Amino acid sequence: MSDASSLPSVAVFGLGIIGSRAADHIAAAGYPVTTWSRSPRERTDFETDPSTAARNADIVACYLKDVPAVRYILGNIRDSLGPGKTFVNHATIDHATTDYLVAECARLGCGFLNAPFTGSKIAARNAALVYYAGGDSEVMERLRPFLEVTSTQIMEVSSPLAATILKLTTNLITASTVQALAEGLTVNLAHGISAETYLESIKPNACASVLASMKVISMAEGDFDPHFSLSNMLKDARYMLDLAERAGLETPGIANTATQMQKRNDLGEGEFDFSILFKQFEEA
Ligand SMILES: NC(=O)c1ccc[n+]([C@@H]2O[C@H](COP(=O)([O-])OP(=O)(O)OC[C@H]3O[C@@H](n4cnc5c(N)ncnc54)[C@H](OP(=O)(O)O)[C@@H]3O)[C@@H](O)[C@H]2O)c1
Repeated sequence: MSDASSLPSVAVFGLGIIGSRAADHIAAAGYPVTTWSRSPRERTDFETDPSTAARNADIVACYLKDVPAVRYILGNIRDSLGPGKTFVNHATIDHATTDYLVAECARLGCGFLNAPFTGSKIAARNAALVYYAGGDSEVMERLRPFLEVTSTQIMEVSSPLAATILKLTTNLITASTVQALAEGLTVNLAHGISAETYLESIKPNACASVLASMKVISMAEGDFDPHFSLSNMLKDARYMLDLAERAGLETPGIANTATQMQKRNDLGEGEFDFSILFKQFEEA
């Protein structure tokens, strides 16, 4: 570990499932850390005023939920950003907001890195996130040791926008896979075949995935403790559909899964795990 006195100070914004765990690792690595959260959820030791949290930070790291959250925070900490400071976005956001962050940080003269990630609650707890990082190469190299504190891999990509597109299109696969697993599980259960047997049949198959191991049994048991919330997967599907539309494309698979997620969200299930998609078949 580096000498703590030489480490940059960090402000972590957003203390949900991922941000709360990332902040713990960053503090444990010796970085001076302040945190900001909108409300006490996973922890209570945070600043309530965004500009107070950001004022003395060399690095502002955002594990916020979505586009409104990221735009709200940037709008409220502008005075604390400038030369020598770096704004790092870890939230999964849309095309327009990625462009907005690039332009705003350039205008303010601060560094910018777009680094959304893959890895859920357990990966965050184990400092095993994988970042898709796009931005200026000098900023990337300067921040590499910082990103390594919370990750096992950093995939450098060609631009901030490429990071957003790769993140959204990998989530397309994740959402669609869980929709498919929920359908397959429902058919098996209806024919008297157990979730365990279904999972065993998947494991040697080319369709095997970490997701199947994570979700098949928990869906059958009705365990929807959130690792990644339905409301967050839904907004990612919406951002993904926007990407397709911008390219003049139709993506009916994720469009249908988004419709199913919207229905569950409208039933008040947004803060459960997105695998609560499985419940769409209970009422069929
Ligand atoms: N969990 C995962 O497995 C996972 C994996 C890959 C990527 N991601 C992405 O990483 C980001 C964080 O994920 P997460 O699971 O930690 O999300 P989360 O548990 O929903 O936490 C989001 C945080 O953002 C805050 N927030 C929400 N709306 C806000 C607003 N309008 N203004 C200010 N703050 C707001 C929340 O505050 P409150 O507590 O007050 O609501 C919370 O602190 C999201 O973009 C997500 O899509 C998550």
